Amino acid sequence: MSSPTPDNYAVIGNPVAHSKSPDIHALFAGQTQQNMQYRRLLAPLDGFKAAARQFAAEGGKGLNVTVPFKQDAYAFATVLTPRAQVAGAVNTLKFGDGMVLGDNTDGKGLMVDILDNARRSIAGARVLLLGAGGAARGVIQPLLDEQPARLVIANRSIHRAKELASLFSANIPIDVSSFSALKESFDIVINATSAGLSGEMPPVPGEVFGPGSLALDMVYGNEMTPFMRFAAGYGASVRDGFGMLVEQAAESFFVWRGVHPDTGPVFSALRPPS
Ligand code: ATR
Repeated sequence: MSSPTPDNYAVIGNPVAHSKSPDIHALFAGQTQQNMQYRRLLAPLDGFKAAARQFAAEGGKGLNVTVPFKQDAYAFATVLTPRAQVAGAVNTLKFGDGMVLGDNTDGKGLMVDILDNARRSIAGARVLLLGAGGAARGVIQPLLDEQPARLVIANRSIHRAKELASLFSANIPIDVSSFSALKESFDIVINATSAGLSGEMPPVPGEVFGPGSLALDMVYGNEMTPFMRFAAGYGASVRDGFGMLVEQAAESFFVWRGVHPDTGPVFSALRPPS
């Protein structure tokens, strides 16, 4: 039964004004009849801990955590889920029962978007992951769990890709590469670099895309990203990070409320024009 006072949630970040999470969670809450409110919380760059503490002290039940605070949230949590530990980052905090639970739903969100929304199989696929920062790290284990034929991590600084690959042990070959050394095509190419945020793209050769490739950019906006435009020019099907955003939000909602919202109506309501 719903309590008369709504439970409070927020997305914390810097910047955070652009976040679509409040719209997404408002639709989930309406659909599942959960008595909750969800807002944006701008924290100073050096003020994550104080802002999160205050939010919890005022009775807040949970936070979504976005750039640049996912590592701070990892340190702030008193209990980490296995998937947050592997990701080395936290995008979902849940307050209650005398603890701060830190979880990471980004990888799950990407998997659901690829498997259910894009209807692509990862099992047996050749997968190329571009980038070796926090965003890339968060999706490696979920990708490996789907048993791709192989996974290649390509990054501008190759030592970061090597370091990242060494964190994972799998029976699937994980190779590392520079962008320029990529010579083959892949079934799925995921852009987990932050290049798109500054209107750039990782300098991958066009050969990585075949006519049946799926090219997915974790960044989203109202227009195609440079990476998506480039990939489309080589015949790939392209997708931005909006699907991943909605699906990770649905998983966070489940962590907090124990109810799985239906993401379909949210796509219909909020899908940015492509
Ligand atoms: P995030 O948490 O978003 O992954 P990050 O940890 O700072 O942020 O990592 C950013 C990633 O984007 C890195 O892989 C970075 O490459 P380097 O490790 O070589 O720095 C990549 N990146 C950022 N701008 C890029 C650009 N213009 N071209 C190619 N890669 C870029």
